[in-house]
Amino acid sequence: MSEKEKGESIETSEAEIAVHWAEEGFVYPSAQFIAQANMTDPAVYDRMALDKCPEYWKEYADMLTWYKYWDTILDTSDAPCYKFFKGGLINASYNCIDRHLAQYKNKTAIHFVPEPEDEKVEHITYQELYVRVNEFASILKNDLGLKAGDRVTLHLPMVGELPVTMLACARLGIIHSQVFGGFSGRACADRIVDSGSDYLITMDAYYRSGQLQDHKEKADIACDDAAKDGKKVKKVLIWQRYPGKYSAKTPLVEGRDLIINDMLKKHYGARIDPVQMPAEAPLFLMYTSGTTGKPKGCQHSTGGFLAYVTGTSKYIQDIHPTDVYWCMADIGWITGHSYIVYGPLSLAASSVIFEGVPTYPDAGRCWRIAQNLDVNIFHTAPTAIRALRKVGPDEPKKYTYHFKHMTTVGEPIEPEVWKWYYKEVGKGEAIIVDTWWQTENGGFLCSTVPAIKPMKPGSAGPGVPGIHPIVYDNDGNIVPAGSGKAGNICIQNPWPGMFQTIWGDRDRFVRTYFERYCKNPKSKDWRDWPYLTGDAAVVAADGYVRILGRIDDVINVSGHRLGTKEIESAALTVPEVAEAAVVPVKHEIKGKEPDLYIALKPGIKSTPELAKAISAAIVREIGAIARPRKVWIVPDMPKTRSGKIMRRVLGAISNGTDVGDVMTLANPEIVELITKMVQGEEGKPVIP
Ligand code: PRX
Repeated sequence: MSEKEKGESIETSEAEIAVHWAEEGFVYPSAQFIAQANMTDPAVYDRMALDKCPEYWKEYADMLTWYKYWDTILDTSDAPCYKFFKGGLINASYNCIDRHLAQYKNKTAIHFVPEPEDEKVEHITYQELYVRVNEFASILKNDLGLKAGDRVTLHLPMVGELPVTMLACARLGIIHSQVFGGFSGRACADRIVDSGSDYLITMDAYYRSGQLQDHKEKADIACDDAAKDGKKVKKVLIWQRYPGKYSAKTPLVEGRDLIINDMLKKHYGARIDPVQMPAEAPLFLMYTSGTTGKPKGCQHSTGGFLAYVTGTSKYIQDIHPTDVYWCMADIGWITGHSYIVYGPLSLAASSVIFEGVPTYPDAGRCWRIAQNLDVNIFHTAPTAIRALRKVGPDEPKKYTYHFKHMTTVGEPIEPEVWKWYYKEVGKGEAIIVDTWWQTENGGFLCSTVPAIKPMKPGSAGPGVPGIHPIVYDNDGNIVPAGSGKAGNICIQNPWPGMFQTIWGDRDRFVRTYFERYCKNPKSKDWRDWPYLTGDAAVVAADGYVRILGRIDDVINVSGHRLGTKEIESAALTVPEVAEAAVVPVKHEIKGKEPDLYIALKPGIKSTPELAKAISAAIVREIGAIARPRKVWIVPDMPKTRSGKIMRRVLGAISNGTDVGDVMTLANPEIVELITKMVQGEEGKPVIP
């Protein structure tokens, strides 16, 4: 390979196609908000200054109830695999349920809102949650013989049974691994195999856009595919969407499938003592996409994770026990684990779980839920905000809800969209926090503390208290705040919510997140191990961070994280496909979409049927969220002389930007041909 080729960027990334909007002015919180806020003391930033790390994390640990108080705040002996609150014994289920019973047993823990509007909302009190979690934990323990440290895969939709299942696992120290309900059976199988789960817990059916979907069929695919990969699932446990009635068309598999609602009858009144777990015991795995086709099982701890989500739910989400809090994310993603289930319930709030689609049956659905339940904290992603703005820009004002606080998470939010969220959804009364973080992090990294720091549209804000970001350039030099330059944003210090490792792959953990800027690979001092987030960012002179997007092969589609390599390997399961390349392309609502380029094996003809089959393969292997915008079957891929696919060129073509100098390619003529194919003769993108 020539020197020129080595230095040349082959790949395209989100950060490269990011829109660089101008810095906006500050927007200040109301006196009314400040008067009731949990955290109003600016000294919190001094208390949690870098030179006082890690001692200040005690503040979050002390929000929890411990069986045995910890003795070491941070054990770095296996850096960068850290252990927070070592020596402590704790149970997450106890902290989210039992400890609230004396004061709040009759208060709603979970409002489950079914998608059909004629179905009643289910208000699960803390006492009811306690009963359900105990009885289900009794099944796990007594019928299945599961114990602390075992892994169980959950593939559940957005229903009240999901937190019940998670908290029952947590009660016993069983490590739950919830797979997003929209993922395919194949994707579920990969996670069953990687985590070594003997059991799969699922639901027969659930509603989406007015359709009762058969979800059980995915369990059959998951079990078959897992068996092919050497992991036999012993039993599939199935919750019924309508208790007492089986709602899926797919038949039960005899000897393997068990209906939980039937099993529960034997466990009436069962009470299971919470298991006293070491703080560093894993609480759950959450798989996420990386730069290879194999998803990573992010391993989150019990004490550290719970402390961090409790602390940030209190200070950043401003949750009080009297609040009705609605986070519209799916519990199958980290946002739901941290900020629908564990954080809000640890603080004894009432947390809303909505089964359906925000814009179904119409653009007023969300606001009716907010009005009926008197929701006062609302949390969603820019994709949902963009969609709601598009289909019903004037809808919120028709309803009488009042939010005090709103969150945006998952993608950069354009200032125009932010302003609509603020003015129309928040009615100019609610503060907004733009929270930047990742599956790996457990909780927020950058955001404003709402009563202390003003908001800046389009900017996440500074590191939250105790989190100390730093931006490096590719050579490891610090990019100073206010320089206007973008760089790779890293976190200088450990925090309790950070994942402990990648399940079963410590080397990949170190390589992916720490190797790049590690000052000394032998060091046991956390100061030598900056955490690489994989995002590009610009930091303004005031310390506010603006995230530009991923610097690697990860794309955020509607706030859902997908690896381009995952999609490419799904395309390669179609026998006619020789090569596949995925690039991110901007989309008005979803933020980004994957565009898929395909080169076929010699002698194979391109047909619309083949393009459809490739798209279907991606839905089968990953799920509908990964479906490409378009499958472009091209005569050849643009390549370097050493044969590498120039995804950067494809990305420029898809996004209608400058392809740059292509004369050094092995096949420069192909660029014009593909450009015409994608953009049409007039040079405009065929699909806007
Ligand atoms: O690129 C960043 C983007 O989402 C990525 C993390 O995705 P995931 O692990 O699925 O977690 C999403 C929710 C925590 C990040 O690397 N991202 C997340 N939040 C923001 C964001 N980009 C801009 N602004 C945000 N607030």
